[in-house]
Amino acid sequence: MTAKPARKPLVAGNWKMHNNHFEAIALTQKLAFTLVDRDFVATDIAVLPPFTDLRSVQTLIEGDRLRLLWGAQDVSEHEDGAYTGDISARMLAKLGCQFVLAGHSERRQYHHEDDALINAKVKRILDRAMTPILCVGESLEVRRAGGYLELVQAQLDGGLDGLTAAQVAGMVVAYEPVWAIGTGEVATPEDAQEVCQAVRKRISAVHGDATATGTRILYGGSVKADNMPAIMAEPDIDGALVGGASLDPGEFVGICRYRNPRGASP
Ligand code: 13P
Repeated sequence: MTAKPARKPLVAGNWKMHNNHFEAIALTQKLAFTLVDRDFVATDIAVLPPFTDLRSVQTLIEGDRLRLLWGAQDVSEHEDGAYTGDISARMLAKLGCQFVLAGHSERRQYHHEDDALINAKVKRILDRAMTPILCVGESLEVRRAGGYLELVQAQLDGGLDGLTAAQVAGMVVAYEPVWAIGTGEVATPEDAQEVCQAVRKRISAVHGDATATGTRILYGGSVKADNMPAIMAEPDIDGALVGGASLDPGEFVGICRYRNPRGASP
């Protein structure tokens, strides 16, 4: 196995629709008590709370000068206007968000988001100088039928359509096989590596090697502290997008400290 290029690992906790703003403050404080400077030097660590928690989380992190990063789980494809219930990229940028998810499989599945819509969201996020985390991944049926690399490539091409090489180099792509999300069934490190490598190869084919070397590619799907070290040993996996385990501060910190499975800071 070749040594990994110097991409800083990223662990992002997608809280999904969990935690009111009081609970969000409590969870962020618990992370702040446990994580130390060395953790943040080794790994970028982000939380992605629901919209209603963002202001509280921002205020706590900025007020206490914590090194945690934060972001949102979705954004409108529109700049602003009469779109009841939607949240714009401008609003998220004003809340100091560094990251915004685009195309999470739960948005694709429950809100019928397609690649063109997700691409429009990615562009809004970039327009406001935030980093999109573009999520791609196949269903169990596609995995069994064998067309998963083609499907992921189509999602990637659709999500990145019209972007410059510099924009793609600064982005994060998260490979989240739907069959591994919230199921306890984690992809094997080899399965995850196969797709993450294919993602990087595709970026290289479209935008060149230098771009592909910069893009951070995460794995997501039932990541826990005990399976994280093997996942991170793979050359094209630069971190994790964590759902359920990000709600448990001990487990989340354990994931962030994957270099030392006993949980001590690096
Ligand atoms: P789980 O870690 O709960 O499987 O969720 C993964 C996910 O969807 C993160 O975005």
